[in-house]
Amino acid sequence: MSNANTQPTGGEEEIDYLELDQMIEKEFNNDKENLIMILQAIQRRYNYIPRPALSYVSEKLSIPYSRIYEVSTFYSTFSLEPRGRNIISICTGTACHVRGADRIKEHIETSLNIRDGGTTEDKRYTLESVRCIGCCSLGPVVKINEDMHGRIATDEIKNVLNQYE
Ligand code: FES
Repeated sequence: MSNANTQPTGGEEEIDYLELDQMIEKEFNNDKENLIMILQAIQRRYNYIPRPALSYVSEKLSIPYSRIYEVSTFYSTFSLEPRGRNIISICTGTACHVRGADRIKEHIETSLNIRDGGTTEDKRYTLESVRCIGCCSLGPVVKINEDMHGRIATDEIKNVLNQYE
C-alpha cells in the first residue's frame, strides 16, 4: 500500500523516503563519507538496492549518480536487482570444489529451477556462487543468510532449504 512517503520501485518494493531520509541523517550524519555504510543499510532494508534509492542518496548527499552507481556495482555484495528473502551462497572455492560443490550447486539449481545468480519466482530464494567463505574444512559449504551448512550432502538440501521461509 502506497502512502505519501512511499513510491513503487518497479518491483514489489516501495521506497519509504521518510525512513530513508531519517536513516541518512540520524545514523549517518548526512555524511557522504558514510556512503558505503548507507548503501549497506539500504540493502539490509530491501535485500537489494532499488535504483530510486540510489537517486535519492545521490541528491541528498550531493554525490553524482554515476559515482554512486560505480560504487554499488563495484562491490559484489551489493545487488541492484531484487533478490530473494533468503540468499543461498554456494562456495565454489577450491576446497569445496574438490569435495563436490558442483554437484550441490546443480542439485539446488534443479530443485529451485533457477540458475546461478537467479531468484525464484516467489522471491523466496536467490542462489549465488561465491569464492572461499573461510571454513574450507567443512566443505562443501552452503551459507544461507548468516547460517553456515557444512559438509552438506545432496539428500540434505531439501530439508535445509525448507527451514527458510
Ligand atoms: S573453499 Fe569453500 S569455504 Fe573455503
